[in-house]
Amino acid sequence: MTMQQPHNINLSSQGTALKSLFTGYLIVVAVGYMMALIQIQFTHGMADGELGLSVDDIVYSYYGKRSGSVLEAKLNGSMKLMAPEQDRLKIINWVRKGANEKAFHKDGIRQIVDNSCIACHSATSGLPVPDFTSFENIAKKAETDTGASFSSLARVSHIHLFGIAFIFMFVGLIFSLASGIPKILKSTVIVMPYIFLIIDIASWWLTKLNPHFAWLVIIGGATMALSFAFMWIVSIYEMWIMPRIREDDRDALLDE
Ligand code: HEC
Repeated sequence: MTMQQPHNINLSSQGTALKSLFTGYLIVVAVGYMMALIQIQFTHGMADGELGLSVDDIVYSYYGKRSGSVLEAKLNGSMKLMAPEQDRLKIINWVRKGANEKAFHKDGIRQIVDNSCIACHSATSGLPVPDFTSFENIAKKAETDTGASFSSLARVSHIHLFGIAFIFMFVGLIFSLASGIPKILKSTVIVMPYIFLIIDIASWWLTKLNPHFAWLVIIGGATMALSFAFMWIVSIYEMWIMPRIREDDRDALLDE
């Protein structure tokens, strides 16, 4: 025997019951992980109008499309023909100057909207469109899109920190019993998701302030996914495919 008595529990020598428990857990969290990736495609993947997650999607989701408001975009798009050219440009000009309430009345924007827009944009039209008889509703569409709000970031951040830390606690615990991985690599892979979870979530906040941090969101997420996949594959392999470690082999292993 060795002098030192390191823990001699390892994955391959566990009984079938414990292996089944670990495997059941690993399979369910892997399916959960895939669902999370699908959900990301739905919530962020379409932000730039194209399928698939890109850096632009992340910028639009967190930083917003600061180049303009919905009102201006529509007046250059599907609402372009709704008002005479001169009136259309007047509204855009008003938006660019800050969509101020005083100017709304003084510069005749109210008049233009009443003439050209509220036939459809009112509660009585029956159309599912914002009611522009109220100034508030127009002002909202004139705001620059600044992406995710701080309150929604705070909510999603704390859910992710608690939830993901919990998942990686058990995945890491199971993987920590693997015997075929060098100690340094093992500790690195175990601690990596925690470091990149912090980086990932910090980079949401940083992207809200500066769009250049969007790539960090992707690196953080990808590194977490890679560590997860590595721990998952090694754990399953050692439990079900690697030969069982017998007593005498184990002593030899520990003597190394
Ligand atoms: C003939 C009816 C009609 C008129 C007139 C009309 N709109 Fe619209 N508007 C719609 C419909 C329908 C939609 C929803 C479809 C779309 O976004 O293109 C819409 C959508 C919008 C939106 C986007 C709302 C959102 O929440 O995304 C804005 C902004 C808008 N209109 C502005 C205007 C302005 C400004 C005028 C007047 C110059 C105007 N519209 C006149 C029918 C109308």
